[in-house]
Amino acid sequence: MNTDELKSVAAAIVAREKGILAADESSPTIKKRFASIGVESTEENRRRYRELLFTAEGIERHISGVILYDETIRQSSKEGVPFPQVLAGRGIIPGIKVDKSAKPLALQPGNKITEGLDSLRDRLAEYKQLGAKFAKWRAVMEIDEHSLPSAYAIRANCHALARYAALCQEASLVPIVEPEVLMDGAHDIGRCESITSAMLETLFGELDAHGVVFEGALLKPNMVIPGKKCALQASSQQVAEATIRCLRRYVPAAVPGIVFLSGGQSPEEATDNLNAMNVIRGNCPWQLSFSYGRALQEPVLAAWKGEEKNVAEAQRVFSRRCQLNGLAREGLYNR
Ligand code: 13P
Repeated sequence: MNTDELKSVAAAIVAREKGILAADESSPTIKKRFASIGVESTEENRRRYRELLFTAEGIERHISGVILYDETIRQSSKEGVPFPQVLAGRGIIPGIKVDKSAKPLALQPGNKITEGLDSLRDRLAEYKQLGAKFAKWRAVMEIDEHSLPSAYAIRANCHALARYAALCQEASLVPIVEPEVLMDGAHDIGRCESITSAMLETLFGELDAHGVVFEGALLKPNMVIPGKKCALQASSQQVAEATIRCLRRYVPAAVPGIVFLSGGQSPEEATDNLNAMNVIRGNCPWQLSFSYGRALQEPVLAAWKGEEKNVAEAQRVFSRRCQLNGLAREGLYNR
């Protein structure tokens, strides 16, 4: 493992005014996103859409890294330049989603476990050759008001995240560890805080037990937020306070950065909440940035609609969203 390389890549990903574009939707997920704008999910349409994102003007000012999917890391621009090279040529670091998605956890109704550890070492070696410098693995915790997730599901998912992170560091790839507590459901913000706390406490215990170097890893958590169906919604200030309180208690200071997922928040909400956290961050030891999928892409998809004539406008919308999140990452966003 090259610890210096891990540290320098992790630091570059959470550089000031910058964050990550998560463009690693699996084929079933991008199919859903395309269906929402009436576009067929063919390989060429997926390639055209990702090219639109990766070539938008000025995004390198606010996007430090892009998470790719297995198909995307092998695709090229229309001029034939492989996407990892298109990105690296602009000073954007290519990354790769390496988990094989969440499946039902045996004997644990309602709980899920993320798969993908088998032969991961070989896949990481190949992705490294294709140009990836970091990786992502997402654990998904369904949550309800009483019993979900189970303590066992938390442990099993954190154990898998730690095994993944150790394999990444062995291959000198920065692991982004993503323990996502979902915002679906009617639970309140307190319930989200207690499950997120349990998850983070277990996660860092497992990472430590596996010998993972915290200085060369990044955390991608959910914000502490009420379920979408909860009658009592929270202001950005409340989300920021609860999230920072939870992170301060459970995330070691050696971790260089925290890159939030957007998880179904609207683009404006995700930007507002990130901004509020950076306004009140005080002397938090880590950078607080973004690794947004939907919150960066929803307005872009809506502007594009699959049509060549809309590409320039969709790219303008995308650059703007990147810029606003770059400001929020500094606490300088004014809606
Ligand atoms: P969202 O920001 O849409 O939650 O996606 C981020 C991501 O990479 C989920 O794994």
